[in-house]
Amino acid sequence: MFRNTNPSGTLAWHNLRNHFEEMEYVKMQDLFESQTDRVAKMHVSWNDFLFDYSKNKITDKTITLLLDLAREMGLPSAIESLFQGDKINLTENRSVLHTALRDFSDQPIVVDGKNVLEEIKDARNRIKNFSNAFTSGAFKGSTAKTFTDVINIGIGGSDLGPRMVVNALECYRNAVQVHFISNVDDDHTESLLRKLDPETTLVIVVSKTFTTQETIQNAQKVKKWLLEGIADSSCENHFVAVSSNVDEAVKFGISQNNVFPMWDYVGGRFSLWSSVGLSISLAVGYDNFEKLLKGANQMDQHLKTAPLEKNIPVLMAMLSIWYNNFYGYETEALVPYCQFLEKFPAHLQQMIMESNGKNRNRDGYPVNYQTGTIIWGEVGVNAQHAFFQLFHQGTKIIPVDFIGFVKPFSKEKGNHDILMSNFFGQTEALLNGKVGVNYQSDAAPDFLKPYKEFAGNKPTNTLLIDQLTPESLGSLIALYEHKVFIQGFIWNIFSFDQFGVEYGKKLASSIQSELKMQQIDRHDSSTQFLLEYYLSKRELL
Ligand code: F6P
Repeated sequence: MFRNTNPSGTLAWHNLRNHFEEMEYVKMQDLFESQTDRVAKMHVSWNDFLFDYSKNKITDKTITLLLDLAREMGLPSAIESLFQGDKINLTENRSVLHTALRDFSDQPIVVDGKNVLEEIKDARNRIKNFSNAFTSGAFKGSTAKTFTDVINIGIGGSDLGPRMVVNALECYRNAVQVHFISNVDDDHTESLLRKLDPETTLVIVVSKTFTTQETIQNAQKVKKWLLEGIADSSCENHFVAVSSNVDEAVKFGISQNNVFPMWDYVGGRFSLWSSVGLSISLAVGYDNFEKLLKGANQMDQHLKTAPLEKNIPVLMAMLSIWYNNFYGYETEALVPYCQFLEKFPAHLQQMIMESNGKNRNRDGYPVNYQTGTIIWGEVGVNAQHAFFQLFHQGTKIIPVDFIGFVKPFSKEKGNHDILMSNFFGQTEALLNGKVGVNYQSDAAPDFLKPYKEFAGNKPTNTLLIDQLTPESLGSLIALYEHKVFIQGFIWNIFSFDQFGVEYGKKLASSIQSELKMQQIDRHDSSTQFLLEYYLSKRELL
């Protein structure tokens, strides 16, 4: 079990604070000038990944001190605890074993006297058999028609991960169209259903608890649509569920044989590797799904075995702590130069902010330092034309992860070079800015020059990956999962519960009853005013 150590009380933290005083006003431009072997030292080549972290406000000493902090906190043994299934999710008394979902070895992982790898293997086989029957057309709808569409109904971790991967693997897709319903928004659901034929649509209801109101509500609505649309009114083949609550799924009307398992040792936001990824397997075929898992497993092996100095998730996590806890930068951005990774920032927002948005330490006391970073982003180059102005000339400093790929799918190289020129050009501009010699060379009139000056010295990480494949995508997602785990561990918080979200759900459900009864209870004056306004307007419109 993790011990409770206040990181800010460690010797390494103290040393980092002193070091920060030396570093606060140091400019990266000068560090590059004085350290000719900077890039050679500050990059990691691993598999088909190149991680260049030289464009950060760091020296060799910073890295040494950050890794001292990781060691003093006991990170290496925490990593072992994660992989061996210790109950590190203490507040829910659970192990945290998303890594076991992509473990193809024969080394048992025992939780409560049971080797979990066996049930995971069984579930993988079920996903495989189901996907193969579905893709080959052997598994048909109840009117003997081949399926053309799949709807995944789920929210949060039961939606964002699969949705992001299905999008990302567009170039590996087979003919079936996969759609996602997450929000409890009739207008959206109905507009989708209008386009689909119930006789050729398979619905997957994904909910770990099978009690999430939005998901159940949407599932009821789609079930009604199926029952009305299928002539013989038997829609058993059209409905499958993924849940750890089999009883509820069966009560809902889904045949027990059609319920794929989930387990309490897998958190929703880390669950795309389980049956929650069924829609991925249907969209790209089981073999590609397995490659995704294997890519993630390779990153797991990297985390476990690489020395901390060459360990990409460790370095990324510690750099982020450097900015969050010493420089006081509150947000981080993520800019993938790949349209297919459009949903990646949204997936990471849940993964990072639901995990590390915590203010109590592992002793239950308020923390006296900053925890969870705010993550946001958008694909490049679109982002350049939206919010990069603030990166370059705003008053806030936002460390950015740039993610790009060497090889596109298209045979036409021209546009990819344009895309990647922007990728490289932006990190260069953020580092060097446009001052001094560069600045003088600008032909602008004198009064305009201050507005055209860029100070540079803005930190970025560059992840350059050979190509977007199921394997590299698996590794990339796992990289950020590990960053989250490491940061939560160093911040001495519990990363794997989400009690904050649950309270909001309770309030929503009592407000729902009030709206139904048209009887607003006592709330704070603002909420009461808004609810009464909504109710009166609802009657009129
Ligand atoms: O938003 C809170 C949350 O519990 C997430 O952690 C989870 O991914 C989501 O709701 C959906 O939960 P379920 O899979 O149980 O429907």
